[in-house]
Amino acid sequence: MMLAEKSDDILKFVRGQFPTLASEWVFMDNAGGSVPLARVIERTARYMTECPVQLGASYEVSALAQQRLDTAMDALATFTNAREPAEIISGPSTSSLISRLSRAMASRLVEGDEIIVTNVDHEANISPWLRLQSQGITVNTWKLNLESMRLELDDLADLMTERTRLVCFTHASNVLGNIEPVAEITRFVHEHGADVCVDGVAYAPHHEIDVQAWDVDYYVFSLYKVYGPHQAVMVGKRNKLEALENINHCFFKPDDVPAKFQPGGMNYEESYASGAVPEYYSELGALAGAAAGAGDRERIVAAAGWMSRHEEDIVTPLLEFLDAREGVRIIGSPSPFSSVRTPTVSFVLEKHDSASIPPLTDRHKIAIRWGHFYAPRLIEYLGLAGQNGVVRASLVHYNSRDEVMQLIRVLDEIL
Ligand SMILES: Cc1ncc(COP(=O)(O)O)c(C=O)c1O
Repeated sequence: MMLAEKSDDILKFVRGQFPTLASEWVFMDNAGGSVPLARVIERTARYMTECPVQLGASYEVSALAQQRLDTAMDALATFTNAREPAEIISGPSTSSLISRLSRAMASRLVEGDEIIVTNVDHEANISPWLRLQSQGITVNTWKLNLESMRLELDDLADLMTERTRLVCFTHASNVLGNIEPVAEITRFVHEHGADVCVDGVAYAPHHEIDVQAWDVDYYVFSLYKVYGPHQAVMVGKRNKLEALENINHCFFKPDDVPAKFQPGGMNYEESYASGAVPEYYSELGALAGAAAGAGDRERIVAAAGWMSRHEEDIVTPLLEFLDAREGVRIIGSPSPFSSVRTPTVSFVLEKHDSASIPPLTDRHKIAIRWGHFYAPRLIEYLGLAGQNGVVRASLVHYNSRDEVMQLIRVLDEIL
């Protein structure tokens, strides 16, 4: 079978996994939230029907609930390449998990300690750290280099001191789409004796996650943008987690991870449903070239590889169209390469407010969006606040080339 033909077959399989895609809408607001897998919906209903009870009791239904949760956490550990399931902390959102992390870290910092945040990040990885200023922590900002439109290590080097304890940065910007070299930055930060907290939300839907290869201390992402339910995951190194304060009930001990970071427990049905995401990747990977007999992790990596290749293919015409269009400026790199950027494409118009465009594509049932996307510091820094931020079309692997061409035709009419 020809490569393109095989890819069409894979895309057919992919689209068949998402019931929402049967609608007449074209979904290109995926960086805001992807649509869920059918198996995520089914698992949520199955859990709530078959074992909606408290965990930890001796009766059979409770044991079944526990076993389902454990299986899902195992799957998420494989998905992220965590060292063990205990490193997986579940929560309702990335914002909530980073907030918890900052609370758990607060008592471990002393006046004069320093934290570095960026002006590229979503507020989720900025606001919780800024709040620590009230206890005498200094927070410095690593700024986007306006020439390269990247976070440059030289600029970070200027900010690092012997008091720097933590560097918080994004793996990929949800506005610019650019991907930062997480392993290189992490190595540099570790050499200076500090830890990293990485926002992987905008990266995770497009590539495999490998917390061990990157050696990150804390890595956080949202499952509702990775085809799952409204849940998020923080993967933390066990020794780091054990050293943080318990923010759950007082009787939890330092080594009770992840429980000491999950006050009130977790959303059981959605956590169970989260386990369907790695399962889907594994099936997709088997179709997308994983060797016969490959294990789940290898199949997940193969699936993510197919996703990047397909995304690179479909984002190319969109970037070419916008780049060639007079009066339009891409905010981010015009390169389609998946090693450089995600298929999250932002642009502005010379003569029009960003808010004026999405209502026009709405009429054609193409869902895109405008705004600052909770990265208002970046939008302000780029001088785009006055025009209501950027217009953003964010693609994922279930989008098709036909859908992208539909968007281009509509933009061609209205821009
Ligand atoms: C890059 C990035 N980080 C963090 C978040 C916050 O995620 P959550 O809604 O799970 O708090 C978002 C949400 O849009 C995001 O795009």
